[in-house]
Amino acid sequence: MANDPINLYDYEARAKLALFHDAWDFIDAGAMDELTTKRNRKAFDQLTLRPRFMRSVEERKITARMLGQDISMPIFVCPAGSHGLAHPDGEVATAKAAGRSNTLMMLATGSTCSLEEVAEAATGPLWFQLYHRGKSLSEMLVRRAEDAGFKAIVLTVDTPVPSPKERDLRNKFERTLELGNFRGTNLPRSEISGTDETPGWDVSMADPVAWSDLEWLRGLSSLPLVLKGIRVAEDAKIAAASGIEGILVSTHGGRQLDQTMSSVEMVPEIIDAVNGSCEVYLDSGIRRGSDVVKALSLGVKAVGIGRPLYWGLATEGEEGVHKILELLREEIGRAMDFCGQSDVANLEPGLINIPNDWGPS
Ligand SMILES: Cc1cc2nc3c(=O)[nH]c(=O)nc-3n(C[C@H](O)[C@H](O)[C@H](O)COP(=O)(O)O)c2cc1C
Repeated sequence: MANDPINLYDYEARAKLALFHDAWDFIDAGAMDELTTKRNRKAFDQLTLRPRFMRSVEERKITARMLGQDISMPIFVCPAGSHGLAHPDGEVATAKAAGRSNTLMMLATGSTCSLEEVAEAATGPLWFQLYHRGKSLSEMLVRRAEDAGFKAIVLTVDTPVPSPKERDLRNKFERTLELGNFRGTNLPRSEISGTDETPGWDVSMADPVAWSDLEWLRGLSSLPLVLKGIRVAEDAKIAAASGIEGILVSTHGGRQLDQTMSSVEMVPEIIDAVNGSCEVYLDSGIRRGSDVVKALSLGVKAVGIGRPLYWGLATEGEEGVHKILELLREEIGRAMDFCGQSDVANLEPGLINIPNDWGPS
């Protein structure tokens, strides 16, 4: 049909029309002046491809592997809370879509559906994202995730304090949807809710997770551990030395701390710092297949999408998320062909131009 969405931005425009204003703002906004959110896009636009022609495009491999999990393309579903805001089937719909696209989903602590419901519906690999809310809650979640068949724990580290977004403050937005993972616990909302909502989350109840907690956390399960939100080489070195299996370089979509560099700008120093000792992934700002190829050419193994999940859900539910993933697959293939590349896991050096003024000052 002529009006079918043909790229992620078409889904974005449709979702904006379909969602209530306050829900749209909650999903779309970044922290404070939203500079980091914008910079995530700007940085990808500043990277340019160096195409290579007159090569065969017949054999092209875009499969990837994340901690031993084979996925059909180097894109995964980021952990993001309350998918129920965009579709009544919530994360169950997202998990089915990810499974249909043969890729991996990270499920958020603050999901609408419970981790058991998602595990039941999923056909692809699942990792569990953990917000540390004190030791007993983390222990309860990690043990349940392992029992339900999740394959890794993704500890989000970039939220030491809550960061209500100004658009949400203006809208007096309250995330009232059920938090499925805490169903039946009778815990007050302030102890279990997310980090970026209003009215303010009571931070006094738990200290933010610290390096000294990692050993304890690892002892809770046999699952590998990925740290989400590491942004600088100094922390990446500590992480690598502590033996974690992966780092997800992320700005949290610019939703927590404003005025940092974009994720893709931070990747080179982090790849350098870990020196091959763990896997590195990226999220924040991925909207095109060419963004994926650019990120991969800097050395990450796979990239995640956050806001586009809600665009797909709000527009067409499971089908919408699946189509978004498939649009990106198609675009990755095209970018690979134009760049004369045959394997995303083995991209040729010199595939992109990096602006001279990139990197920490
Ligand atoms: C509505 C929304 C909720 C989110 N919730 C979480 C969360 O609960 N835990 C987490 O680690 N990241 C969360 N994120 C951040 C995503 O995992 C991811 O880092 C970010 O969305 C990637 O940027 P992008 O939206 O530009 O793709 C959330 C993002 C959005 C948009």
